[in-house]
Amino acid sequence: MSEQGFRRFRRRGAPADAMPIAADDGSSPPSPSIAPAAAAPSQLPATLPGSWDRIRQVPFDAAAQAQARLPLVSRFRADPAAKSFDLLRTRLLHTLKARGWKRVAVTAPAAGCGTTFSAVNLALSLARVPDSRTILMDMNFRRPGAARALGMTAPGGLAGFLSGRVQLEDQLLRPLPTLAVGLNSAADQDAAEILHGRSCAGVLEDMILRLDADTALFDLPPVLEHDDTAAFLPQVDGVLLIADGTSTTAAQLAACEKMLAGHTQMLGVVLNRARKADSPLN
Ligand SMILES: Nc1ncnc2c1ncn2[C@@H]1O[C@H](COP(=O)(O)OP(=O)(O)OP(=O)(O)O)[C@@H](O)[C@H]1O
Ligand SMILES: [Mg+2]
Repeated sequence: MSEQGFRRFRRRGAPADAMPIAADDGSSPPSPSIAPAAAAPSQLPATLPGSWDRIRQVPFDAAAQAQARLPLVSRFRADPAAKSFDLLRTRLLHTLKARGWKRVAVTAPAAGCGTTFSAVNLALSLARVPDSRTILMDMNFRRPGAARALGMTAPGGLAGFLSGRVQLEDQLLRPLPTLAVGLNSAADQDAAEILHGRSCAGVLEDMILRLDADTALFDLPPVLEHDDTAAFLPQVDGVLLIADGTSTTAAQLAACEKMLAGHTQMLGVVLNRARKADSPLN
């Protein structure tokens, strides 16, 4: 039996008809070695599910999504906005793969530019890649928004998880087979301290390793508002900056680039709310 076949055999619980048991029809001489062989399958060590499979799967309800205030463009695949996220995903994956990176911060110059909107829709687009693993973490402790955007309920605050008190499997949820999310239940004003915390970096590193994730997206607070994002930059490989086509100024973008320079790589600037007349979502 091939190694792959053996793994499938063990995972299925070793069905009786597949066991090498000799029939005792009197035609063959009694063999003392046969009885232990028949009992052996039940003694095989069970294959433990990996960490990804142990994360609780939750129904991802289209009706709940519709009630969420934040539009999820994945519901309208033909929409220009959905196509834009798929294009962004492809370009991002290309860059990450070329550089061997996985951890991407999503942030903006100011509040309300669409960081959560972009992070959630990009995560859903990434999760459509077959057999992939995407993690979306809501690291905006001042205004957590990913749970509401997804129409989901957070199992608790992320601070306990980042400090190492709460286990990965108890904090993360899987709304899709290819997507795990770390949601935050309530605002916490100690954001910078949590993100600076001694255990935060180790917990996130361990999470990505154990889950064997392809991409981890971190929804962060605005760069120019608090120092939370700056505190978190050492944990990421690059930053996607979301600019609001209706309000972000060139001076704000320049200030962000100056702040990020030397700390992390700028993966790109995404122009949100760019085509007001074209998209029914705007
Ligand atoms: N392109 C878009 N089309 C339609 N609505 C949008 C778009 N971008 C953002 N919004 C809406 O604007 C509001 C603010 O967006 P979002 O929550 O993503 O901002 P944010 O940058 O995460 O804000 P904060 O800094 O407070 O976390 C939300 O209600 C969201 O639904
Ligand atoms: Mg947000």
